Amino acid sequence: MGYFEKASALQKNKDALILGIESSCDETAASVVRGGREVLSNVIISSASEQAKYGGVVPEIASRAHTEAVSDAVTRAVKEAGITFKDLSAVAVTYGAGLLGALLVGVSYAKSLAFSLGLPLVPVSHIRGHMAAGYLESRELEPPFITLLASGGHTAIIKVDDYTKMSVLGGTMDDAVGEAFDKVARVLGLPYPGGPNVERLARHGKNVVPMPKMLKNQGGYNFSYSGLKTAVINYVHNMEQKSEPYSREDVACSFQHSAVDVLCDKAVEACEEYSLGTIVAGGGVAANGHLREYLTNKCAYKSIKLVLPQKTMCTDNAAMIAAEGYIRYMNGDLADLTLNAKASVPLVANAE
Ligand code: KG4
Ligand code: ZN
Repeated sequence: MGYFEKASALQKNKDALILGIESSCDETAASVVRGGREVLSNVIISSASEQAKYGGVVPEIASRAHTEAVSDAVTRAVKEAGITFKDLSAVAVTYGAGLLGALLVGVSYAKSLAFSLGLPLVPVSHIRGHMAAGYLESRELEPPFITLLASGGHTAIIKVDDYTKMSVLGGTMDDAVGEAFDKVARVLGLPYPGGPNVERLARHGKNVVPMPKMLKNQGGYNFSYSGLKTAVINYVHNMEQKSEPYSREDVACSFQHSAVDVLCDKAVEACEEYSLGTIVAGGGVAANGHLREYLTNKCAYKSIKLVLPQKTMCTDNAAMIAAEGYIRYMNGDLADLTLNAKASVPLVANAE
């Protein structure tokens, strides 16, 4: 019996202890989750401060940082969960999307760990991981619901029919919303990581700078962020060229309203159109304070249940990978040791 058959033959158990490993960008993360819902440990070792010196993520630095941190992260995750490696049921790992060299560190580590422990190896899409964070926030959460996915790489409204069945209602036609935050941060002279810094600046500003309409009331559930980004760049450059004073705080605040409100409005519209009672938010931009407040108020007004993962579960972490890993493990969607990293994966397709 080969490795794959041996691993598949292992009895699945609903209280399975899944070790999640995440290394797609600048966070080396490991976590143990029980039964797909209960986070026993959640270790995140970030190289963001190192990356900040260069104004963004340098792939080579990220890969090196993952190599240095992955073993420590995994060991700590198992220890902090109060278990031993022998208690684990499976090893789940992000195989894409992300930086190839960074992903390879996690994938290689997960493969050797699964092999040496004789455990199933579960390939997890990073995007699906972000979407699964809702299951950790609310243990009662069950499909169907609408997911608002807002991260650095993806922006979409997704109708989730079942744990493994979903369809994309709409997505961005150009930049992702997180990307727009990061670009606007650069224009405003804010350091990496851009999103949280734009949010901080926006707190002291007013929503008074005119911004494009953002496909509001048009374009179905699609979004477009390149026009908004260009509008901010043009506004700042114009003011600077004319040596006119302007408020960076107001620019940040107006941009944030424009970028975020349309996402929340369309998620609520989707909920109403499909007669669904729940919205689940996920991805780094769902950590944004304005988004959280606006969506909370809007859902309360419309009597829609909102599942908003804690901020640390919106940004990159391995607990969400273990949560999605649990779904795939229970479904028997395993990988063998030929598993490779992929820079991009389809938005909602199961991992191949
Ligand atoms: O989900 P994530 O951690 O990584 C990806 O899978 O892309 O998202 C990262 C993105 C970055 O663009 C970052 O600027 C943005 O999420 N972000 C935020 C906030 N925190 C992270 N954007 C706005 N406000 C925040 N508080
Ligand atoms: Zn992410």
